[in-house]
Amino acid sequence: MDTQDHLDQLVADAESAFAAASDGAGLEQVKARFLGKSGLLTERLKGLGALTPELRKSAGARINRAKDAIEAALDARRVALREARLHARLAEEALDVTLPGRGHAAGGLHPVSRTLERIEALFASIGFIVADGPEIETDWHNFTALNTPENHPARSMHDTFYLEGREDVLLRTHTSPVQIRAMLAHVARHAEAQRMADLRVIAPGRVYRVDSDATHSPMFHQIEGLWVGEGVSFADLKGVIADFLRKFFESEDLQVRFRPSFFPFTEPSAEIDVAFMSGALEGSWLEIAGCGMVHPNVLRFGRIDPERYTGFAFGMGLDRLTMLRYGISDLRLFFEGDLRFLSQFR
Ligand code: PHE
Repeated sequence: MDTQDHLDQLVADAESAFAAASDGAGLEQVKARFLGKSGLLTERLKGLGALTPELRKSAGARINRAKDAIEAALDARRVALREARLHARLAEEALDVTLPGRGHAAGGLHPVSRTLERIEALFASIGFIVADGPEIETDWHNFTALNTPENHPARSMHDTFYLEGREDVLLRTHTSPVQIRAMLAHVARHAEAQRMADLRVIAPGRVYRVDSDATHSPMFHQIEGLWVGEGVSFADLKGVIADFLRKFFESEDLQVRFRPSFFPFTEPSAEIDVAFMSGALEGSWLEIAGCGMVHPNVLRFGRIDPERYTGFAFGMGLDRLTMLRYGISDLRLFFEGDLRFLSQFR
């Protein structure tokens, strides 16, 4: 007959055997030794049959308590082993998140974006704000309100991208339609005022023409400038432009020339050419912008009284300016996304 001591010893043996098992499979083997079909504890339960009913009852209860204790010890060891396994795995797969990354080169702004930021900063310093308009523009803003007659060649299918099934819209051919949008918005803001505050905006953006070679792309960038106010003159235009160009090219020996020209929306009109007095391009004149005094009809389309206010406007080729500033000869390089080219401007 078992004494309590024997059972306590059995529980203690099971506990130390469980503790000695170092993994799940080992633990299951140890379990079988105690709780299996012919395990040590199971043998004790079988032995009960030989006892008298009274003794059997109390011995049975003791054996069951021992069994509970052994099962609890088994469960505890299972949990401990599982946690140890998890910790080992975590330690093994640990990442040092503070290590610096490998081979991630710094990005940089596209050269045309750099030019744009530079121009915006220079014009902001003399009170111009940045305006914009849609690239899919109405025929009215792009041509009609800019005093461009029905039969003007720019309106032909060869020069302009129209949208299939739409008569009223096109891909804007220049940033000049933003002149109209800016005037209308400005007038709406100053409707109550006795005297309209000066309107000074620049409007950069993408424009589209049916044109493609080393110096022309079907999509390119312009920046429009507009200054309308009382007494704004051609002298102001020349001063603003010449000052801007010298600052932009960081060159005091830059020559600027206004060559008479024609645009439907300005009168008089001029083409702006620049020449460098030194360097690879020395002495050759390059056209970089169109400009002129805003035509009275255009002011009227913008709801501004041409008897009282005057203004000048200009439209510069952003890509051209960038090519000149960095000495780039092929416009297409800007739009091919070749990192060998682009990474030189970081
Ligand atoms: N919109 C003209 C062009 O694209 C440039 C220009 C703008 C001319 C403003 C005069 C005034 O060629």
